Amino acid sequence: MTERVNYDQIAPTFDTRYAHSLYNVLTQVLRATIEAEHPERILEAGCGTGYWLAALNDLAPRIHGLDFSHEMLRKARQRNLSGGLLRATAEVLPFRDCSIDLIFCVNALHHFGPFENFIIESRRVLRPGGMLANFGMDPHHGRDAWCLYDYFPETRAIDLARYPSSDAIADSMLRAGFDSVACRTACRFATDRIGAQVFEDPELQRRGCSQMALLTDEQYAAGIARMKAAIASAPADVPPTFRADIAIMLQCGCIDR
Ligand SMILES: C[S@@+](CC[C@H](N)C(=O)[O-])C[C@H]1O[C@@H](n2cnc3c(N)ncnc32)[C@H](O)[C@@H]1O
Repeated sequence: MTERVNYDQIAPTFDTRYAHSLYNVLTQVLRATIEAEHPERILEAGCGTGYWLAALNDLAPRIHGLDFSHEMLRKARQRNLSGGLLRATAEVLPFRDCSIDLIFCVNALHHFGPFENFIIESRRVLRPGGMLANFGMDPHHGRDAWCLYDYFPETRAIDLARYPSSDAIADSMLRAGFDSVACRTACRFATDRIGAQVFEDPELQRRGCSQMALLTDEQYAAGIARMKAAIASAPADVPPTFRADIAIMLQCGCIDR
């Protein structure tokens, strides 16, 4: 089993990723997905520092966030959120049956163990007409390019072990009793960093993302050394390009009215 990521350690620097405009397109897709449902009561499972709760705060009268990490929730409390924040695990949702209109999850479901329990719980707490919308990577389809996988080869194996595929999530939704499931690419995070610019990538920092956090110090140092060697060995006028082109997949499980 893959080691768990300690988000209390990541919390102080987690939001540096949101300085990047990459996330604007995901904000638009999230808003459109939620607005189409006209929900009264929303829950984000694995809400972290509350970035998405703040971005979507105006979309429903009640919008709740749930997370397991004290420190991530402490950051979330510093935001001006209208709804409540709960410390709980997503595998046992502290809500009554049929009490929520829409549950969403961003880059978090692969941390839940087992993720199927979260899907079963979501089915229980959603009202008729409700929706579970999960946004996240799927390293299993093999169509992403990510320099982190190339220079820190352990990260690819770790991700394949801990991320369920889009198909596995969809199957789990159907097994849990969702009446229909739709899967698509929500957006792509695509960016090229040239030469030493790569070291400005917030996700490349020691605990900049869960992929980096799960490496040993030795594995992390070896990956940074590989990047430095690639830069040093390239002609000065043709520095290497460090590419990320990653699909964020969306699985929507819907319950009939
Ligand atoms: C990559 S962060 C994503 C945070 C937020 N959704 C975002 O996109 O900014 C994953 C979050 O899932 C939370 N988490 C991990 N396992 C959890 C669990 N079993 N129950 C609830 N939250 C969990 C972590 O504490 C962390 O805040």
